[in-house]
Amino acid sequence: MNIVCRSAFHLCRRPSIIADGGRGVHTSCRRSIVMPAWVIDKYGDNDVLRFNENVLFPIIHYPNEVIIKVHAASVNPIDVNMRNGYGAKSLNMSRDPLNVKMSGTEFPLTLGRDASGTVMECGLSVRYFKPGDQVWAAIPPWKQGTFAEFVVASVNEVSLKPKSLSHTEAASLPYAILTAWAALVNSCGLSKEKCPGKRVLIIGSSGGVGTAAIQLLKAWGAHVTAVCSGNAFTLMKDLGADDMIDYTAARLEEQLRTRELFDTILDNIGGTHEELALQFLKPWSGASYVTLVTPFLYNNDQLGIADGMMRTGVTLASKVMKHYYKGIHYRWGFFAPNGPSLDEIGELVDAGKIRPVIENVVPFTDVPQAFKKLEAGHARGKTVIQVVDPKK
Ligand SMILES: NC(=O)c1ccc[n+]([C@@H]2O[C@H](COP(=O)([O-])OP(=O)(O)OC[C@H]3O[C@@H](n4cnc5c(N)ncnc54)[C@H](OP(=O)(O)O)[C@@H]3O)[C@@H](O)[C@H]2O)c1
Repeated sequence: MNIVCRSAFHLCRRPSIIADGGRGVHTSCRRSIVMPAWVIDKYGDNDVLRFNENVLFPIIHYPNEVIIKVHAASVNPIDVNMRNGYGAKSLNMSRDPLNVKMSGTEFPLTLGRDASGTVMECGLSVRYFKPGDQVWAAIPPWKQGTFAEFVVASVNEVSLKPKSLSHTEAASLPYAILTAWAALVNSCGLSKEKCPGKRVLIIGSSGGVGTAAIQLLKAWGAHVTAVCSGNAFTLMKDLGADDMIDYTAARLEEQLRTRELFDTILDNIGGTHEELALQFLKPWSGASYVTLVTPFLYNNDQLGIADGMMRTGVTLASKVMKHYYKGIHYRWGFFAPNGPSLDEIGELVDAGKIRPVIENVVPFTDVPQAFKKLEAGHARGKTVIQVVDPKK
């Protein structure tokens, strides 16, 4: 296959074709233009975040990729965790081989998973998008991120932005709502058809994932009980929650005992909540518990990939079996990039059934402050980064 790298700015004048171990063919272009981005050159606390105006302009490696000019991005806990080095061993295995294996390092690394922006350039097999399209996307953590003027994404990660949202609003949703989607749909088998009549408990309902999950479940007709601090009750009600539990007011266990059992539990908090919550599912009725807080990447960081995977496999299998014999499906949930699901979510947004929940909007210069805010906890929805000032 002969691929020519077509840059919107005609940056790549001498494309050369590189075979890539059977994964496909990609181009290597002489890059002469740079862009601003927030990068890290080592793992650590907030001081490692560095604004760099001379990051190499990204190029299309595969024919199914697009380059997006990022108008807005948002911060997720994964950004803070990755800044600290979380997941590095596993993520390096999936990173662009040109970047990691040939240069021997993943740095400089650009964080940021959410993007809303404009398609600037399309790979040769891209049919669904064209330059100028307004899109939103969640980029997986093994790729260079969106705290940059431009980002490369595969078409399966991208979707046309809901028309009713500005870029600032759109950037608040993709990573969080696709995580909720992966947990509820892929792990627990929920859908528009299966939600009506189902009782769902969300533990940790006031942050990015929780506020997205409530709205998705309500759009599909489920009964939602939200566990959050009391000062988030007004927000929960606005988003459609049917019942709310203030975990700071009294022991969660006692409060759950006063409710009917649940069909599904989404646990965004983990730790001791896991064993506690599992008692409150309807046994032998297909009920599922899914947690987003898993030791998968941590085990690989601590033990290396082989031993880490072994420990993870044993832990997961023993929990699945233990609860299976009690009539409960036990699952781990993971973010998965998913453009087609973003298309469906976009329709719900344009129909007024899902809205962005934005706590803060900060300019591109203030990425470190956005990290600090998220790290301090108590998020109420999302903090958005305006990479492009919409007033200019
Ligand atoms: N597995 C994956 O692929 C994946 C993907 C995305 C996120 N995650 C994980 O999922 C979790 C949630 O993500 P997020 O983006 O929603 O985080 P977030 O935006 O930081 O929100 C966390 C929310 O939980 C609330 N909270 C804290 N302790 C609580 C408790 N004991 N009970 C109920 N609510 C509590 C916080 O508010 P208050 O402290 O004020 O109550 C905050 O509103 C994070 O741990 C994240 O790392 C995993």
